[in-house]
Amino acid sequence: MQKLTTDIVIIGTGLAGLSLAKYSSELNPNLKILLLSKTSIDECNTYYAQGGIAVVHDFIKDSYEKHIEDTLNAGKGICDEKVVKHVITEAPKRLKELINWGIELDKNQEGNLDLGLEGGHSQNRIVHHKDKTGYEIETKLIPIIENLPNVAIKTSFFATDLLMENDTCLGVIGFDDKGEPTIIEAKITVLASGGSGQVFGVTSNPFVSTGDGVAMAIRANVALKNMKYIQFHPTALYEPNKSQAFLITEAIRGFGAHILNQKGERFLLKAHKSGELATRDVVSKAISEQMKIENSKNVWIDLRHLDLEDFKNKFPKVYEYCTEEGFDITEDLLPITPASHYQCGGILVDEKGATDKNQLFALGECSYTGLHGANRLASNSLLEAMVYAQDVANHITEIISNSEEKNCETDALKYKNIHHEEVLQFRNQLQRIMKYDAVYGTKQDIITSYQMVSEMQKRFKMKFKNYNSHPFLCETFNLIQTAEIILKESLPVNYKRVKAIKKTKSKL
Ligand code: SIN
Repeated sequence: MQKLTTDIVIIGTGLAGLSLAKYSSELNPNLKILLLSKTSIDECNTYYAQGGIAVVHDFIKDSYEKHIEDTLNAGKGICDEKVVKHVITEAPKRLKELINWGIELDKNQEGNLDLGLEGGHSQNRIVHHKDKTGYEIETKLIPIIENLPNVAIKTSFFATDLLMENDTCLGVIGFDDKGEPTIIEAKITVLASGGSGQVFGVTSNPFVSTGDGVAMAIRANVALKNMKYIQFHPTALYEPNKSQAFLITEAIRGFGAHILNQKGERFLLKAHKSGELATRDVVSKAISEQMKIENSKNVWIDLRHLDLEDFKNKFPKVYEYCTEEGFDITEDLLPITPASHYQCGGILVDEKGATDKNQLFALGECSYTGLHGANRLASNSLLEAMVYAQDVANHITEIISNSEEKNCETDALKYKNIHHEEVLQFRNQLQRIMKYDAVYGTKQDIITSYQMVSEMQKRFKMKFKNYNSHPFLCETFNLIQTAEIILKESLPVNYKRVKAIKKTKSKL
């Protein structure tokens, strides 16, 4: 097996991984930093983020207190208030850096930042680049990172597992772009590997969002928290057979779009007084229930009453996509459905981004900081990624001289060819089980889904003895393991007790 050594290895190249590389490189110009990307450097959730970044900018109409209150309300009482305050009050500093890095944000006619509105926000506070904020960030930041002298980038590197010695992480192991088994020894390892949307049949996430960080953490016994809180985005375009659903950004509801049932009626005001601008959990639930009542596969978003020129200027990506797909937004309603969008829980980290294992950090969507609680407030995630990237970079700088770099004993990885179709069958079956109701349906829906996924995991292990012998195989196992933990946490509280009683009875 080939062996590489570095000081810091970062797995993932979304905003979390890239901004951490930037901050760490500036603070530690003598350290070697290695960034790993599973496919190309820009294939990640950040790239597809349409909305923007929530920041208090207009201190006359808005305040930190209001943003904090909105975040706590969205998170349904389980956010960590200290974390919420920290992230929100740091936001203006991170915004300044983003602008210094050359990221262009939309301005209004007066030349001030144009502040958009999204569900759950009591004020306009979303800074954005049209409806392509993530694209703007990735395309501006990547060349900056590529030019940092102490940062190396490896694309098409599939990390299969963390290298652990007792409670200390000594790096990662995986396959490089030629399928060569590779050990990367590092003093500090950071999981910034994104979310797990592809666990579900309908998702706004790209094909790379397969819960890899969470699954590696499960196998290394790293603590996770609140994995059951999966955020569904209410307005993904209904396009069956697409592995990534196209998002109709929430900012469009902030701009005045309506959601209609099959009779053409606005029904969301019955679910919440804020109607289309209620938080995502409320809107997704109401849409999902409406679809059941009507036995339909979608509801509709109505853009017909909006000013077309203004719309095209603010939302060019959505306009172009819909036009290419044959919709005339001045006449047609667009079919929409909720899609899994964001993993609110994840690898448990403290206020410095540290996990419960030495020398191992987690950042961005794969982590759980306490900011989002049970339901992330729209456009708070890019903000969290940047704030925590700075915190992790500061902390790494303090501890790295005391961190171990060690030869790690590990079983050799062996690459084996697989029958793609056989593995794909497991993915397809998983995505058929993992629907909105698998986590938010009746108790029986959740129990049945959990039992099916557990049984599938057993079959997978029997059929493929070494999950880590091929990237596609490992990625599929990651999906199954992540799905199982989501469902296990979603089980009704008395499920385990009932199971335990049944077991005891059968022994008697
Ligand atoms: C959106 O544009 O609706 C998504 C933004 C987000 O997930 O925060």
